[in-house]
Amino acid sequence: MEFKTINDFELKGKRILVRIDLNSSVVNGKVLESARFLRHAHAIKSVLKKNPAKIVLLAHQGRKGEKDFTDLRQHARILNKYVKVKFTPILPGKEALRKIENLHDKIFLLDNVRFLDDETNIAKNDNVIVDFAKGFDIFIQDAFSVCHRAHATTVLIPRIIKSCIGPNVDEELKNINQLVNRRPLLLLIGGQKVADYLPIVKLLEKDKRNKLLASGYLDFLIRISQGFDYGMQNQIMKDIKFISEFKNLYNKFSGQIVLPIDYAIEKDGKRKEVLLSNFPSDFKICDIGKKTIELFSKEIGKANAVFVKGALGCVEDKRFAEGTVSILKAVAKSRKFSFISGGSISTAIKRYKIKGKFSYISLSGGALIAYLGGKELPGLEALR
Ligand code: 3PG
Repeated sequence: MEFKTINDFELKGKRILVRIDLNSSVVNGKVLESARFLRHAHAIKSVLKKNPAKIVLLAHQGRKGEKDFTDLRQHARILNKYVKVKFTPILPGKEALRKIENLHDKIFLLDNVRFLDDETNIAKNDNVIVDFAKGFDIFIQDAFSVCHRAHATTVLIPRIIKSCIGPNVDEELKNINQLVNRRPLLLLIGGQKVADYLPIVKLLEKDKRNKLLASGYLDFLIRISQGFDYGMQNQIMKDIKFISEFKNLYNKFSGQIVLPIDYAIEKDGKRKEVLLSNFPSDFKICDIGKKTIELFSKEIGKANAVFVKGALGCVEDKRFAEGTVSILKAVAKSRKFSFISGGSISTAIKRYKIKGKFSYISLSGGALIAYLGGKELPGLEALR
């Protein structure tokens, strides 16, 4: 085993510090529940079974200066649906250690660790989070999704106390391993944040049989970089930079990239399917069309593993969810190894009640992309 896990240590009677990730979407001040709560609750329960003296959970919400930078009161309420946790709205420090010692509760959740500058600014010599961690016997890193950040709870704590990965990091690593070692591998990439996903495309280099099915902004940017005129869609995309990166990508991997051959637009309030040959058009593209669904489904049938990131159309609007829903159904039905990532896809699976089994639904965003793109994550490096 590359990393120690919770089974490599005696946890009985020990004081355990755990980094979890409850970072969630916040809409009008309301924290929305995500899969992270239940999965971390399971992990906390497996630590609890080993009968430690105390478990203290560290987590964050948002980034300083941003709208969703809030305390963890609502998170604690959601987490408590699955596991009994005492929310202690203070930050790591001497007072927190004293409080934890004096209370009879077993599991504590402290407040947003990013309220402390010492979490994100790790350059200075004395760090209050490091001092706090010295009051514990073992540190469990259970948040793969923050391991791409060089923060106190990712890189400093493992340097000073015995540390291991938690059940969720273990699962994430095992499934990533399964994904990248299967051939042929199919990457299904859509959504709007595609420039951020570009590192994943490196997986095409690993094997000539690996393919990329591009939809959403990735598809538009590739075609626009080749001089194609969608009309309205070109207007919508006009401020997007790095067009040359998409040009290079297509020039390098054109034999491995499959692009949609038809689309759905909104006309007179209705879904209307149009062929590629009908462009330029005055309308915004809202989904892939039926012929593309057929084409992509055939490709899914040929693959040995499928990675899905980003919706194939405007999935939040029922009229334009057909592409995403049909393709997810094809993936589930194919019984291939399927690795699902990203909030929009997870939400679509829930909302449209897509039946069938996906092999793994990842809890990570940026960290996963960096890792799949071949980057060493500072948080994992520190544990190693
Ligand atoms: C995430 O939601 O991907 C993680 O919590 C990391 O959040 P960050 O990008 O603000 O570091």
